[in-house]
Amino acid sequence: MIEFRAVTKRFEDGTIAVDELDLTVEAGTITVFVGPSGCGKTTSLRMVNRMIDPTSGTILVDGKDVLSVDPPTLRRGIGYVIQQAGLFPHRTVLDNVATVPLLSGWDRRRARTRAAELLETVGLPAEFGKRYPAQLSGGQQQRVGVARALAADPPVLLMDEPFSAVDPIVREGLQDELLRLQAEIGKTIVFVTHDIDEALKLGDKVAVMRTGGHLAQYAKPAELLSAPANDFVANFVGKDRGYRTLTFLSADVPVHEIDAVKVGDTVTSNSWKLVVDDTRRPLGWLSPVDGSVEVTADRLIAGGSLYDGGTLRSALDAALSSPSALGVTVDAEGAVVGVVHADDVLKALAAARAAGEVPS
Ligand SMILES: Nc1ncnc2c1ncn2[C@@H]1O[C@H](COP(=O)(O)OP(=O)(O)O)[C@@H](O)[C@H]1O
Ligand SMILES: [Mg+2]
Repeated sequence: MIEFRAVTKRFEDGTIAVDELDLTVEAGTITVFVGPSGCGKTTSLRMVNRMIDPTSGTILVDGKDVLSVDPPTLRRGIGYVIQQAGLFPHRTVLDNVATVPLLSGWDRRRARTRAAELLETVGLPAEFGKRYPAQLSGGQQQRVGVARALAADPPVLLMDEPFSAVDPIVREGLQDELLRLQAEIGKTIVFVTHDIDEALKLGDKVAVMRTGGHLAQYAKPAELLSAPANDFVANFVGKDRGYRTLTFLSADVPVHEIDAVKVGDTVTSNSWKLVVDDTRRPLGWLSPVDGSVEVTADRLIAGGSLYDGGTLRSALDAALSSPSALGVTVDAEGAVVGVVHADDVLKALAAARAAGEVPS
């Protein structure tokens, strides 16, 4: 657990970067600090591992005032990941990851074995260990950065905009990977970002900060969306917060069975038909026909997104993006399980709205 108690940082030039910050980061959770550039996120983070000391106030890590611990000892228990990974360019990937265990007095062999395990943990093939950082993509370098921060198995992980420099697709992959990893390792993570979508996705709790180092709201993602504490938070989470809220609501909608057809079948139907392959994976839709037609590849109309079987947002996306207004859901193998009807989804949406679960 990390506690900020009335923490203020005033730099020598008079800038107040953090102003009376009071906040508790629960053990084993991801807490995200989010806010516009210059609002004091990095300063707050760096006060935890004493790269910056507060002007006043106290920071406790597991009940211990960080100022009472000498910085090298403190940092051994706190992993730190930054943008661009901060890797040593002239050391191999394996040696980069082994750095901290070596500094902690492990023998070289044990440190390297541990480093190789960690590469696997973050989803990198073992042979990458022999490469140099410049031979890796940005996303791969970030994974190495995470592996290195985990090398000493610290209970606390500080991550400062670790994924901000990689492109959006890679970033989403890294976010998913972090959530998967955290489910395994259960660290106490403080994650800094300026991206509200990233914050809402990753945070068990999110601290929205505003310029001048003020905490605007500290709450669970769903609560930031449904009950923003003030206009700053409402604007920051965005005008489409009603829609975003649906990510946190489960869809109470029936999944209906559907008769699927295959390419080569002859179909007589005045309703939309779902076309699947031999393993029942969805290929697309056939629009209602007059008379009878043979299903051919060129008649297929692409389906929209798939329903994940859980959230109202996914159900709505699937139903609305499908040409048939039927959202397809599949099993773990990708085979069609059934469909949700747009009408049912809209009813569920209206019910959630009536229950006050969706902001207008
Ligand atoms: N060493 C420093 N000296 C003076 N001002 C600083 C220093 N470091 C940061 N600041 C200022 O403190 C404020 C918060 O900075 P920072 O914590 O880096 O914000 P963020 O990470 O949210 O972008 C900014 O106004 C920044 O210019
Ligand atoms: Mg910063």
